[in-house]
Amino acid sequence: MTQRRLGVWFIGAKGGVATTATLGYLALKNQLAGPTALVSQLPEFAPLELIDWNGWVIGGHEIRETTLLQEALRLAEDNRTFAKELVLSCQEELEALEANYRWGTLHNVGPTITQLACPACRQEQGTAAEAFARIQEDLREFAQANSLEHVVVVNVASTEPPLQSPPAVQTWEELRRLIDQPACPLPASTLYAAAALDLGCSYINFTPSLGSSLPALDHLAQLRSTRHMGYDGKTGETLLKSVLAPMFAKRNLRVMSWVGHNIFGNMDGRVLDDPVNKQAKVTSKDRLVRHILGYAPQTLVSIEYIESMGDWKTAWDHVHFQGFLGVPMVLQFIWQGSDSLLAAPLVLDLIRFTERAHRAGHVGRMEFLASFFKSPLGVEEHDFFEQFRMLRQWAGGLAAC
Ligand SMILES: NC(=O)c1ccc[n+]([C@@H]2O[C@H](COP(=O)([O-])OP(=O)(O)OC[C@H]3O[C@@H](n4cnc5c(N)ncnc54)[C@H](O)[C@@H]3O)[C@@H](O)[C@H]2O)c1
Repeated sequence: MTQRRLGVWFIGAKGGVATTATLGYLALKNQLAGPTALVSQLPEFAPLELIDWNGWVIGGHEIRETTLLQEALRLAEDNRTFAKELVLSCQEELEALEANYRWGTLHNVGPTITQLACPACRQEQGTAAEAFARIQEDLREFAQANSLEHVVVVNVASTEPPLQSPPAVQTWEELRRLIDQPACPLPASTLYAAAALDLGCSYINFTPSLGSSLPALDHLAQLRSTRHMGYDGKTGETLLKSVLAPMFAKRNLRVMSWVGHNIFGNMDGRVLDDPVNKQAKVTSKDRLVRHILGYAPQTLVSIEYIESMGDWKTAWDHVHFQGFLGVPMVLQFIWQGSDSLLAAPLVLDLIRFTERAHRAGHVGRMEFLASFFKSPLGVEEHDFFEQFRMLRQWAGGLAAC
C-alpha cells in the first residue's frame, strides 16, 4: 500500500496540547511510545485501517515567538510532563518542523490572548477578510509544498472570550458577507474554521471557543463536501462527570448538588484566569450533568489559576445525593493529571478518525466523535458509554463496507 500523505495543521501550534501531541506523534512514529491512552489503538478499531504513524506532516499557526523544541523542553524540565530524553531523541524532527509554522490571527481574541502575541505577529494583523485570505494562503502553501492528500485542521489555541450574542447566520453566503464587513464580530477561531472548511480541509475544535459552532459553518462544510466537529475536548473532570452521572440516573439516586473545583497553573490556566475567557469554559463544563440527569441540581464549577501547579491539574468534586428513604450521602473524587498528556492522545485519535471519515466521504458534523467532547455539536447525548457506542456503531458500519 502506498503511503498516505496527511497534513495536520494545529492552531495554537506551540501550546501545551499541540506540543505534546506533536512530540507524541514523533514518539509513536519512532516506536518510542506504546498505545496506552489512544482510543484509536483499541483492537475493536483495527478493522478500520486507520492511518498509521507515518506520513504525517505537521504545521500550524502560532502567535508567540518560541520554538517547538523550547516548548517541549519547558514541559519536560519545568513541568515533568514527560522525560527530557524523549524530547532530545526527537530533537532533529522537532527542529525540522519549524519551517511549517506561520503567524496566526488575533481578530477578536480579547486583550488577554493579544498580550501573549509577539511584535512580529501583531504586525501581520489586518481586517477579518485579510486574515481569512492569509489563513487560506498558508494552508494552500502547506498542502502544495508537502504534496498532501488531505489536511486536518485542529484548533488547540487559547480559549477566546464568548460572544455575547453570536451572529444569527445560517448560510455560508451570509457568513462570507460578515467576514467582509469592516467591523466583523467573528472571533479568530471562526475565521480559521471558515478558511479551512472553504478549502475542503477537515476541522476539529478542541477548545470551547466558537470555532465551527454556527450553523453557517455546517452549511459551508456541506457545500465543500468536508467535515467538522467540536467542541471542547473531554479529558478529565468532565469525562468523569459523563461516566458517573449516568450511574446516579440509572440507580435512581437523586443528585442534589455537584460542585467541582479545578486548580492548575499552565498557560491555558493563565488565560482562563481572565473571567471573560473563563466563562466559555465554565459553561461548557457545567451543562452536562443536568442533561444526563434530566433535572437541574445545584452546580458550581470553579477554575482557578495556581501557578505552582504548572501543567498538573487537580479537580476535586463533591456530589451530594439522596439515597433510599431520602437519606443524604456524598461521593467525592480527586482527579490529578497532566493536562497536556490527557489531551494529546485524544487529539491524535481525533485526527485518525477524521482522516478515516474523509476517506469514507463523510460530510458535515461528525457526531460519532461525541465521546471526545464536553459539548459535542449536534448531539444531545452526554452519557459517555452511549457516546462511545456511537463511535463503535460508525466504525462497525465502515468495517462492514
Ligand atoms: N486537557 C486539556 O489540556 C484541554 C482539555 C480541553 C480543552 N482544552 C483546550 O485546548 C486549548 C489548548 O490548551 P493548552 O493547554 O495547549 O493551552 P496553551 O495556552 O498551552 O496553548 C494555547 C496556544 O495557542 C496559542 N494561540 C492563542 N491564540 C491564538 C490564535 N489566535 N492563533 C494561533 N495561536 C494562538 C498560544 O500562543 C498558545 O501557544 C485551550 O483552549 C484549552 O481550553 C485543553
